[in-house]
Formats: sequence, structure tokens, C-alpha cells
Amino acid sequence: MGFEAKVREFYDAAAECYEHTMGDRWHHGDPDAEAAGRPFLEACERLEEGLVRDAGLRRGGWALDFGSGIGGPAFHMAKVSGARFVGVTKVGRFVAAKPA
Ligand SMILES: C[S@@+](CC[C@H](N)C(=O)[O-])C[C@H]1O[C@@H](n2cnc3c(N)ncnc32)[C@H](O)[C@@H]1O
Repeated sequence: MGFEAKVREFYDAAAECYEHTMGDRWHHGDPDAEAAGRPFLEACERLEEGLVRDAGLRRGGWALDFGSGIGGPAFHMAKVSGARFVGVTKVGRFVAAKPA
């Protein structure tokens, strides 16, 4: 089995578990927020907002989220920046499941 097929097989098998345990954020939170004991979702949003700042994203801009999972981070970063996001993921069945 090739690497691409292995990645797809892994996420097809693990997606439900990720979603059950981590919701729509499949990444770590901002380390300072986590160290301060902030809730998981808030720590994730702090990290995403830092990415938006560091990338200089603003209304009218575009971003590619390569490996977007089910899209929680992209939706939040789009909301806080006003930029448009295109998400690419191997977990195809989730792409259409999130609202635009
Ligand atoms: C750990 S998850 C992170 C998801 C999302 N960025 C987040 O933070 O919630 C990694 C994601 O990358 C996607 N991915 C991994 N390899 C990929 C590839 N070669 N092409 C497209 N998507 C890929 C997986 O399907 C999965 O959605």
C-alpha cells in the first residue's frame, strides 16, 4: 500500500475517534494557554489566531489549509481574519459535511 493510501486509511479509521475526543480541532493548543490551564478549544483558538497574525491574513486575503481535517481551525481563522480559506484533506467525506 502506498503512502497516500495509508494516510487515507488511517484518517478514515481514526476520524471518528479524533472527532469524539477533540471535536473539530485536531491539533495542540497554544502552549501558554495550555500551561495556564485554559480549556482545550480556547487554547486551540489562541494558536489559530496567532497563525492568522503571523501570516498577516486579513479581509480579502486567501489561505490554503493543506490537511484541514474537518475544518474547525479553517472556519475559526476565516472568521477572525475575514480571509477566505480553501481546505484540502484526505478525509473527503467530511468536506461536504461542514457548512460553508
Ligand atoms: C492531524 S490532522 C489536522 C487537521 C486540521 N489541520 C486540524 O488542526 O484540525 C491532519 C490532516 O491532514 C490530512 N492529510 C494528511 N496527509 C494528506 C495529504 N497527503 N493530502 C491531503 N490531506 C492530507 C489528513 O486527512 C488530516 O485531515
